[in-house]
Amino acid sequence: MTTPRGLLQADALSDQVASARLDSVQEHGASKEHAMLAPFTAGWQTANSPPLVIERSEGCYVYDANGKKYLDALAGLFSTALGGSEPRLVKAATEQLNKLPFYHSFWNRTTRPSLDLANELINMFTAREMGKVFFTSSGSEANDSQVKLVWYYNNALGRPGKKKIIARSQSYHGTTFISTSLSGLPLLHQDFDLPGHFVLHTDCPHYWRFHLPGETEEEFATRLAISLENLILKEGAETIAAFIAEPVIGAGGVIIPPKTYFEKIQTVVKRHDILFIADEVIIGFGRLGTMFGSDFYNIKPDLVSLAKALSCAYLPIGAILVSPEIADVIGAHSNKLGTFAHGFTYSGHPVSCAVALEALKIYRERDIPGHVTHVAQRFQEGIEAFAAESPIVGETRGVGLLIATEFTNNKSPYDLFPVEWGIGEIFGAECKELGMMVKVLGNMIVMSPPLIITHEEIDKLVSIYGEALKATEERVAELKSKKN
Ligand SMILES: Cc1ncc(COP(=O)(O)O)c(C=O)c1O
Repeated sequence: MTTPRGLLQADALSDQVASARLDSVQEHGASKEHAMLAPFTAGWQTANSPPLVIERSEGCYVYDANGKKYLDALAGLFSTALGGSEPRLVKAATEQLNKLPFYHSFWNRTTRPSLDLANELINMFTAREMGKVFFTSSGSEANDSQVKLVWYYNNALGRPGKKKIIARSQSYHGTTFISTSLSGLPLLHQDFDLPGHFVLHTDCPHYWRFHLPGETEEEFATRLAISLENLILKEGAETIAAFIAEPVIGAGGVIIPPKTYFEKIQTVVKRHDILFIADEVIIGFGRLGTMFGSDFYNIKPDLVSLAKALSCAYLPIGAILVSPEIADVIGAHSNKLGTFAHGFTYSGHPVSCAVALEALKIYRERDIPGHVTHVAQRFQEGIEAFAAESPIVGETRGVGLLIATEFTNNKSPYDLFPVEWGIGEIFGAECKELGMMVKVLGNMIVMSPPLIITHEEIDKLVSIYGEALKATEERVAELKSKKN
């Protein structure tokens, strides 16, 4: 399967557009640049215009330095589940900062919040029994650590050749050396000398784009499971350690698995003694209307990655849940080697853990997954109603409080707009003008609002979406007439 070039532009315009912007900078003289090498930002962007500085947040809204208010339809980066001004999280952080701002968790020393949070996560994750929790500071570090744990585990079991990891095209697992390698977006690999050789990428489960004529979702899922099994057989199951998947591919464009997909994929990986890593960094803690994506899709993972909503993103923290069987093997092997030689200064940072504990308490007390189920229909149907009528929307796809819009011609997955038209960018700029933040990804846009969003706020979000869509349609009509 091939992925159209238009889908691979992560938050950047095409080369042509970028170089046009650069020319304009050179012509008109660059404004004074700031000193930050900004993530997922092209050089021309910082050279050409000052960054949008966000100064404060309140509920589902953020405010820029000029006081302009934006509905944050991306919840920061899929992360501020409780919005931007939850006083209980601020209080939890402040109390912990006053009591014990830092102590580490090395050498069998630790802190009360990290112990409590580990127990809480084990209790909360009920899709299957989990044994231990390892803390990181981010989702990327969590996935990085997953691969190290899996390698350590297979070495402990005397299977040094069982090391390759299978990930999926179009997936996003982070940007450290290992997690970028896992990610299935070529733009992330380009000129970073990645991916590492230990990663294999299997099919993206995007039914709309990749199904064959007449193929049902179930048949598509069967074909992908067969393709995965063929890859395993070709490489040799004795060389493959783990399979990693997001329950719903998020940052790569909200790819919803086709019906029966995870059931079939899990059967294949189990048959070949391959571990299943569920990357729940975006989906965990209610985004789909269940506490975890593993509940939603009946996934029984061996390992789980968590971050983002774990602390509502108020402080950096990630976590790995490890099955009891793997935890036992790791424990025994560390006895043999003298230690488990992996960890970060900030593993189990007490202030991050205190905030995360409070966030988890709120998710339960307020039944945040139940709230998501309650409001999701209005969100999904509101967007779909505009998109269905639009000549520039190929597909909208979503579940819970997560949705993507892909712009194509004639409702076709194959009739793409020229990348240099920057349709996603046009839509994103319209939203910004109208006071709403969305994620632009080539000719797609993605929304994942805070999980506390109300019906009234959803109506506002949908109305801005409709207005931005209309303006984008007009712009596309102009571009088309210029071309003809
Ligand atoms: C599914 C998934 N995994 C991992 C990551 C990486 O997390 P972080 O940016 O905290 O390193 C992300 C970030 O968006 C993600 O969406």
